[in-house]
Amino acid sequence: MAFPKPQYLFLALLILFFLSKLSFAKQSRINGLKLNVIDRCWRKNPEWKRHQYQLATCSIGYAGKMINNIGNDLIHYKVTDSSDDPINPKPNTLRYGTSIIQGKVWITFQRDMQIKLEKPLLISSFTTIDGRGVNVHIANNACLMIFKATNIIIHGIRVHHCKPQAPGIVMGPEGKVIPLGQVDGDAIRLVTASKIWIDHNTLYDCQDGLLDVTRGSTDVTISNNWFKNQDKVMLLGHDDGYVRDKNMKVTVVYNHFGPNCNQRMPRIRHGYAHVANNFYQGWLQYAIGGSMEPSLKSEANLFVAPTIGNKEVTWRKSSDKSGGTWNFHSIRDIFENEASFNITKGGDVKKPNYTKEQNFKVLDAKFVKYLTSSSGVLRYNKNYVY
Ligand SMILES: *[C@@H]1O[C@H](CO)[C@@H](O)[C@H](O)[C@H]1NC(C)=O
Ligand SMILES: *[C@@H]1O[C@H](CO)[C@@H](O)[C@H](O)[C@H]1NC(C)=O
Repeated sequence: MAFPKPQYLFLALLILFFLSKLSFAKQSRINGLKLNVIDRCWRKNPEWKRHQYQLATCSIGYAGKMINNIGNDLIHYKVTDSSDDPINPKPNTLRYGTSIIQGKVWITFQRDMQIKLEKPLLISSFTTIDGRGVNVHIANNACLMIFKATNIIIHGIRVHHCKPQAPGIVMGPEGKVIPLGQVDGDAIRLVTASKIWIDHNTLYDCQDGLLDVTRGSTDVTISNNWFKNQDKVMLLGHDDGYVRDKNMKVTVVYNHFGPNCNQRMPRIRHGYAHVANNFYQGWLQYAIGGSMEPSLKSEANLFVAPTIGNKEVTWRKSSDKSGGTWNFHSIRDIFENEASFNITKGGDVKKPNYTKEQNFKVLDAKFVKYLTSSSGVLRYNKNYVY
């Protein structure tokens, strides 16, 4: 048997090598090596639509895995009617799905929809709102509220132009009509809520804030969202006197803030926030602020200061009666455009102490732009590939 001459063998190996390199590059695009750990968990799967509940296993941070939202007893509910009746919701509307249907419910939308809510939408425990594959806008009046509820996923919807609401009665969780006081114009408001995952939403232009985590809410993960065009962006902690918020724990990861955000990204009172791998595209007054002895670990974010105006990331309420024991720490953050971060001197950087299922690797801040490059609602083509 004749062996090929060594030079031919070498050539063949060389060609083989380049071919494999090529196919590797192609493969990595397909496998989405450029996806962050949440997205990699489900977007890599071209059949994700058929395995849509898999999303619940993809969360990280203080919300933990949302496995209580799936299982054999899960009800799949499809919204086909964009109308809203706050007291007697009609079947097939969003409000019917979030209040009347009991137990675990996974809500999707039949088609693109503009939903104008007549009153705030109260979401029951064990509910998932999944806007993937269609364009759902909740806009131009009342918006979303999670009140004394737990195990909720909000994914892939646009919430904007939210307006304050006068007191009134609405269909609440567990199918009970409840009186609701005056509500500010927030996009999403959490009141005494826990284990909540807010992922890949686009929130903007509301009369009050975009996201409020208040009144003893905890175990919240806010990931992959796009916050833009807003004065007050995110409030963690209700008011200076509300000491129950001491136990609040929130993870803020892979979000894009800006352009045109003024302040509160977030503003925190009492509790603890782990703010990691977010992209800050400028601010006006400040990006991160607080009062009442909050702790915040800012880790590997990209802060791009505005061209003109305040370059300082942080703000501390000067009239704070607690004597000014903030704990604002910055590690591995990247500062561009002369951004600065006034860290708290002395004191330890509190670790998030995540459990195994909450834990994730915070990547180097130089990767933040691509980690957040698909923040907000994802764009789809007809084949659900993007
Ligand atoms: C930094 O924060 C401290 C309070 O912790 C404050 O006294 C000081 O003025 C701040 N410095 C800057 C440059 O903002
Ligand atoms: C994590 O544990 C350490 C040690 O017990 C503690 O000092 C720290 O406050 C904990 N972090 C949080 C966010 O509670």
